[in-house]
Amino acid sequence: MYAGQVVEQAPTAALFARPLHPYTEGLLASVPRLDGPPAREHGRLHGIPGQVPAATAWPEGCRFHPRCPYAWDRCRAEAPPLLDAGAWRARHPHGALLAPHRPEASHATPVTPALVDVQGLVKHFPGERGWLGLGRPRAVVRAVDGVSFAIAPGQTLGLVGESGCGKSTVGRTILRLIEPDAGRVTIDGQDVVALGASALRALRRRMQIVFQDPYGSLNPRMTVRQMLAEPLAIHRLASGAYAERRIAALLEEVGLDPGFAQSYAHELSGGQRQRVGIARALSVEPQFLVLDEPVSALDVSVQAQVLNLLADLQQRRRLTYLFIAHDLAVVKHIADHVAVMYLGKIVERASAPALYARPRHPYTTSLLSAVPVPIPRRSASASC
Ligand SMILES: Nc1ncnc2c1ncn2[C@@H]1O[C@H](COP(=O)(O)OP(=O)(O)OP(=O)(O)O)[C@@H](O)[C@H]1O
Ligand code: SF4
Ligand SMILES: [Mg+2]
Repeated sequence: MYAGQVVEQAPTAALFARPLHPYTEGLLASVPRLDGPPAREHGRLHGIPGQVPAATAWPEGCRFHPRCPYAWDRCRAEAPPLLDAGAWRARHPHGALLAPHRPEASHATPVTPALVDVQGLVKHFPGERGWLGLGRPRAVVRAVDGVSFAIAPGQTLGLVGESGCGKSTVGRTILRLIEPDAGRVTIDGQDVVALGASALRALRRRMQIVFQDPYGSLNPRMTVRQMLAEPLAIHRLASGAYAERRIAALLEEVGLDPGFAQSYAHELSGGQRQRVGIARALSVEPQFLVLDEPVSALDVSVQAQVLNLLADLQQRRRLTYLFIAHDLAVVKHIADHVAVMYLGKIVERASAPALYARPRHPYTTSLLSAVPVPIPRRSASASC
């Protein structure tokens, strides 16, 4: 369905194997796939450009024409009829497939010293008593239990695992949003755990976090301009007319019109909110970003746009990412290395191509086999 109309209807397997409508093709091409090449080989996801139009202003002619790669004059003037071929119906006069976008494969990056080095990180949460503090205290939660990894500058480590295995606690503890119980974290050679309050504030400029829920992480009472001006003022990076120019440039860099500066969070779509969250993290010119499930709340086409944006920003600004996710296909698309976490520990760590080609730990194998592939017959046989 697109812009209030069913644009294609077909038997499930046929629709996934050979979509007829360009919107269906775009949706399928937006999904990072375990059986597809990683981002390092084909660069970007082939998403759908632009945004869904407002329900109050459907475009004339074919409602999909402003975003359709096949649109021609007639599409702008005439609404296409719903062609009916029995089980297959599509609101589109032809069914050519999109050409795959495959620029040259990039070469392997040389080995460089780590920007982020984490050794033996531990965070346990004390067991709490039941309701109203009654009953016996529950067992201690060993959320992070001796985690170690390193990330080279400009690289992405994907941290994957099931819900509750401790991924977010790792990300927050590295940034000292939560105090670790033990372990060592260095960022560009600086020992994060040993820093006092003022030195930590200065280091915070260099390490930022983007959260999963783009709505909950934005202040509903602030305009976008105020949200972006705040970190600039706290870190004394810009004020007055210079701050306004920085804010406009940040919005443009994340693909938003500077006019959005006057908007509040509730006036933005999920993808736009996540772009504001990324702009806010970038405002202080960080080197290292913890991306805590940054696309899991977004639909697949917006997810592809945000993943492409993150890949572009990384290349342009040479950012280093810890990309936390439970979706192994998304991680395969964006990560150079992958660490698999289970019950507070990392059970396997490898370069992304090696981990996906030859998983060594049984838990990694079971995680990989649980990932759906957008070809119905193949997913069905994979789960047998
Ligand atoms: N502040 C806290 N107090 C007590 N327990 C906590 C706290 N924060 C997290 N936990 C517990 O620590 C464990 C790990 O939580 P964490 O949020 O790191 O998991 P996660 O892997 O990020 O999960 P998800 O994929 O659902 O986001 C969970 O059992 C959680 O309930
Ligand atoms: S009718 Fe035209 S604009 Fe609409 S989907 Fe088909 S080619 Fe694209
Ligand atoms: Mg989490």
